[in-house]
Amino acid sequence: VDQGGTVKSVVQYFQETYGFAIQHINLPCLTVGNQQRPNYLPMEVCKIVEGQRYSKRLNQGQIRALLEETCQRPHDRERDIVQMVNHNSYHDDPYAKEFGIKISERLASVEARILPAPRLKYSETGREKDCLPRVGQWNMMNKKMVNGARVRSWLCVNFARNVQESMATGFCRELARMCQASGMDFALEPVLPVIYVRPDQVERGLKARFHDAMTALGPQRKEIELLIGILPDNNGSLYGDLKRVCEIDLGLISQCCLTKQVFKMNKQILANLSLKINVKVGGRNTVLADALTRRIPLVTDKPTIIFGADVTHPHPGEDSSPSIAAGCGLPRLA
Ligand SMILES: *[C@@H]1O[C@H](CO)[C@@H](O)[C@H](O)[C@H]1NC(C)=O
Ligand SMILES: *[C@@H]1O[C@H](CO)[C@@H](O)[C@H](O)[C@H]1NC(C)=O
Repeated sequence: VDQGGTVKSVVQYFQETYGFAIQHINLPCLTVGNQQRPNYLPMEVCKIVEGQRYSKRLNQGQIRALLEETCQRPHDRERDIVQMVNHNSYHDDPYAKEFGIKISERLASVEARILPAPRLKYSETGREKDCLPRVGQWNMMNKKMVNGARVRSWLCVNFARNVQESMATGFCRELARMCQASGMDFALEPVLPVIYVRPDQVERGLKARFHDAMTALGPQRKEIELLIGILPDNNGSLYGDLKRVCEIDLGLISQCCLTKQVFKMNKQILANLSLKINVKVGGRNTVLADALTRRIPLVTDKPTIIFGADVTHPHPGEDSSPSIAAGCGLPRLA
C-alpha cells in the first residue's frame, strides 16, 4: 500500500518501480522490516551477506561438532592458554609497552577450598541407609528414597508413532518396578492401557483419556496421580502443549520421556525418572543427615529462611517464548 493508499501486488510494484519482472512468482516472499511497517521482498532480489551469526537452534550434528571443538578438560585448557600467552609473548608487545600494560605469564591464582560433601540420608528400610557422595557423584543402588510417595492411579499416553504399544507398555512396567524398588508405593498397572495420540491432537486426546480414566476409577472419585507421556525425540511444541494441558486444564502431574529413553530403557534412565516422579508427587528422595540431627550451622540454631530462584531462557531461535523466573522460600524454624 503506497502513501496514496493504492494497493499493489509485489510483482506489480517491482515491475513499475524497477522494471524488474519477478521470475518465480509462486515462491513466498521474505518478510523484512517489522510488524508496523512490513516489507515483502522476493527471494530472487535478495543476497545473504556472508559471515553472519546464525541465531537459530543448531541440529544434533552441529551441536556435537561445536562441543568437540570447544569442550576441553581443565588441564588441557590451562596448558593451551599458558602456551598461547607465552608463544605470543605479550610482555614484549610494543603496543602493550606503549600503554604501560604488563601481562603475567602465569594464570591468576585464587584461594579456594573444597567443602566436604554432606552425608545423605536414605530410608531405613534400604540396604544402604545413608551415603557419602564422592567427587560429586552417587547412585541409588541399594538405597530407597527417604520418603517414597504413593502413586496408585496413573496413565500413559504415547505420542511417538514409532513406539509400539507393547514397547510403551513394557517401558511403563519397568518404570513402575523401578519406582517400587526405589521406595515408592507405585501401582504396576495403569488405570487404562497405554494409548497412542497424534501430537497434533494433544489437547483433545489428553482430555478424553483423562475423563475415561476418571470414569474407570468409578464413583469413589479417586484422583489420577500421574501421567507418563512418551514424546518423539524432536518434539517441537509438544512438550509445552502437554504441560499446559496437564497443569492448567486438568490439574494432572506429568512425567515426559523421550523415545530414545524408551528404546534404551537402562536402569540408570529408569532410576533418574523415578527420582523426578517422586518429588513431583510429593515425596522426598533424600535429606541431609545433618538436618535430621540438627547440626547445620546457623540454620538449625536460629529461625532461618532459605530462598531459591532460577530463570529459564528460550532456546536461541525460539524468539516468541518469554524468559520464566521462579522463586521459593523455605522457612526453617529452629
Ligand atoms: C522435547 O521434550 C523434552 C522434554 O522431555 C525437552 O527437554 C526437549 O527440549 C524437547 N526437544 C525438542 C527438540 O523439542
Ligand atoms: C542420570 O542423572 C544424572 C544426574 O543428573 C546424570 O549425570 C546421568 O547422566 C543420568 N543418566 C542417564 C542415563 O540419563
